[in-house]
Amino acid sequence: MRSLDDLLAEGVSGRRVLLRADLNVPLDKQTREITDDGRIRASLPTLQALRDGGARVVVAAHLGRPKGAPDPQFSLAPVAARLGELLGSTVPLATDVAGEDAKAKVAALADGDVLLLENVRFEAAETSKDDAERRELADRLAALADLYVDDAFGAVHRKHASVFDVAERLPHAAGRLVARELEVLTRLTTDPERPYVVVLGGSKVSDKLAVIEALLPKVDRLLVGGGMCFTFLAAQGHGVGKSLLEADQVDTCRRLLAEAGDRIVLPVDVVCSPEFSADVETTVVPVDAIPDDQMGLDVGPRTVELFGTTLGNAGTVFWNGPMGVFELAPFQDGTRGVARAVSAVAGLSVVGGGDSAAAVRVLGLDEDAYGHISTGGGASLEYLEGRELPGLQVLADGSGL
Ligand code: 3PG
Repeated sequence: MRSLDDLLAEGVSGRRVLLRADLNVPLDKQTREITDDGRIRASLPTLQALRDGGARVVVAAHLGRPKGAPDPQFSLAPVAARLGELLGSTVPLATDVAGEDAKAKVAALADGDVLLLENVRFEAAETSKDDAERRELADRLAALADLYVDDAFGAVHRKHASVFDVAERLPHAAGRLVARELEVLTRLTTDPERPYVVVLGGSKVSDKLAVIEALLPKVDRLLVGGGMCFTFLAAQGHGVGKSLLEADQVDTCRRLLAEAGDRIVLPVDVVCSPEFSADVETTVVPVDAIPDDQMGLDVGPRTVELFGTTLGNAGTVFWNGPMGVFELAPFQDGTRGVARAVSAVAGLSVVGGGDSAAAVRVLGLDEDAYGHISTGGGASLEYLEGRELPGLQVLADGSGL
């Protein structure tokens, strides 16, 4: 796989570089303000290196999941503004993805300038399963540039036009972020220092089954929190009241518990409330006493202590998924406690993207205390599952340079 440094060594001055970045940041529903700009900041090293090399940088990115047509709600305008602030120079936004406006704005770029294309998912072809449709868009994107750099680690598991097909059309390289993410994930999959402890949370166990199956033979402990723990607790025979339960996964969880023995560690207490709200009375109960009319929305303090003790001895940690509904103040302590324990690990600690990375920042924890905060939720999980990721596969193929 070609690196950014290889490309810079060849010289990028005056050349148009299409940079695929993952700028998919959370926005406040009302104000449309960016609530966590971590992914934009993570894209800066590659962007800056290309500018310093005199490239004309054309950034392609997606935001959310629009329905394949322009939708102002998903415009990258707030991202262009924030990117401009962080770079200290205005970043214009093309009004289309690879149409007339994009072409005109690319033609007007000077060396070192940066242009952001509008949300690539405004083109239905971006995510199409039809190869011909994706390739038509990839042709138009490729026509905007001379070189392609993929730094969108969070999207490398998607076989999308701007991630996969366009890389087949231009000389390409992996950006700094992709390189760093791969370096860290390789350390997790190749002889990790032991004990290797994985913490998984998030709402649905069905989303995490594949990664659990892949990780179980490799880890020393798998700590399970978040909404998904209730299906495991039900599999152990506990009543879970109104908590999130995937009834069709109970048998699978029972099998996993039987196979894993004491390697799967479940919560011992939970924070309950009668409803999903920030202004409710909460109670902490042991997992065998969840009232029928209540739902568990966070792990309890004894669980934080238990998980903390296990993490305290770890040589390597990977954490993905919040322990509770950390967006609501009464249910933040579990995620905060586990986040603190992960940050205190002496060995390599990796936060696996998505909501857990956002939680670290939103809860005001020190980002520098972690070995690595991944920008890719789904991408890092699929990597750990051992799946082939199309965006990486295509970068590894011959570059034509
Ligand atoms: C993410 O948020 O994990 C990436 O930006 C990919 O987004 P997607 O899941 O909508 O493809």
